[in-house]
Amino acid sequence: MTTPQHPIGSGFGARSTAEDVLRGIDLSGKLALVTGGYSGLGLETTKALANAGARVVVPARRPAAAKEALGGLDGVELDELDLADLGSVRAFADRFLATGRDLHVVIDNAGIMATPETRVGPGWEAQFATNHLGHYALVNLLWPAIARGGGRVVSVSSAGHHRSPIRWDDVQFERGYDKWLAYGQAKTANVLFAVHLDALAEEAGVRAFSLHPGGILTPLQRHLAKEEMVAAGWIDEEGNALDTSFKTPEQGAATQVWAATSPQLAGMGGVYCENRDIAPPAPATGERFGVRDYAIDPDEAARLWHLSATLTGINAFPS
Ligand SMILES: NC(=O)c1ccc[n+]([C@@H]2O[C@H](COP(=O)([O-])OP(=O)(O)OC[C@H]3O[C@@H](n4cnc5c(N)ncnc54)[C@H](OP(=O)(O)O)[C@@H]3O)[C@@H](O)[C@H]2O)c1
Repeated sequence: MTTPQHPIGSGFGARSTAEDVLRGIDLSGKLALVTGGYSGLGLETTKALANAGARVVVPARRPAAAKEALGGLDGVELDELDLADLGSVRAFADRFLATGRDLHVVIDNAGIMATPETRVGPGWEAQFATNHLGHYALVNLLWPAIARGGGRVVSVSSAGHHRSPIRWDDVQFERGYDKWLAYGQAKTANVLFAVHLDALAEEAGVRAFSLHPGGILTPLQRHLAKEEMVAAGWIDEEGNALDTSFKTPEQGAATQVWAATSPQLAGMGGVYCENRDIAPPAPATGERFGVRDYAIDPDEAARLWHLSATLTGINAFPS
């Protein structure tokens, strides 16, 4: 990591929205891709980028739902993509590359959280496969277009990364499943992916970032029972938000949009962001704030890249 993992004083607050961070930024002529860009934070990200002039490709696991959410929005085009299915990732990448277009911004936003134990592909744990391996494959396959674009790749992680480093001795949870450790590992993988991608891509003028968007009530919580969210103090029995730190989806989209577009980050990369700024290192007290050392360790990042290349058989940067 060449950029120090310390706030730069962006001037934006925890409540700034995606629209706020884009004020004065003209994205005309830029092509962006947002995975999951039709729900929750992704939907607000797509709208904000399109409103700033970008053309936005939204590859969707559920194209009909994407059409319903985004139909009629100027500058947005839909396609099909299931990140849990490498065949689908390859097919989408082939279709995109065949257009010959340059890609200036990629926001790896799609994700699943705390799912019941699910296996995909050759038996991969679904959160690691969907949140990390699918995006790893997508970016590597799209690399020729991303390299020509010379822009940014943004990996949407979470403060959930504090829950677990990469479990090198049991990455696929073959010795017992824990839905929160699996989410934590997958979100640590999102941070490490940006660290190593940035190291590999900087030479081509492409930079990579990761981030925590904040806590936002979205369909992401679909696998949690109401009782679990009540017990966590997130909602009351009627489903109303209780946690005053929750952001709106427009506020939740701000950090990823800032990481993808802000001139304040010119010449920087490989860092984890939070609250529309580069995050500080996590405090030793164990609070879920800032970034854990294990998530930005360059050796861990290289090791994860190697594992991902071996598992998927895809690597745009063979040594
Ligand atoms: N909300 C929060 O509090 C929070 C906090 C920290 C981090 N995050 C991160 O923010 C990102 C966006 O979350 P969100 O809250 O906006 O959740 P969301 O509303 O559930 O959106 C997630 C998107 O990912 C898509 N997706 C899931 N599995 C997919 C697959 N196999 N292939 C392609 N797309 C797939 C979903 O598609 P379908 O709708 O078709 O399922 C949906 O469009 C996630 O990476 C999440 O980990 C969120």
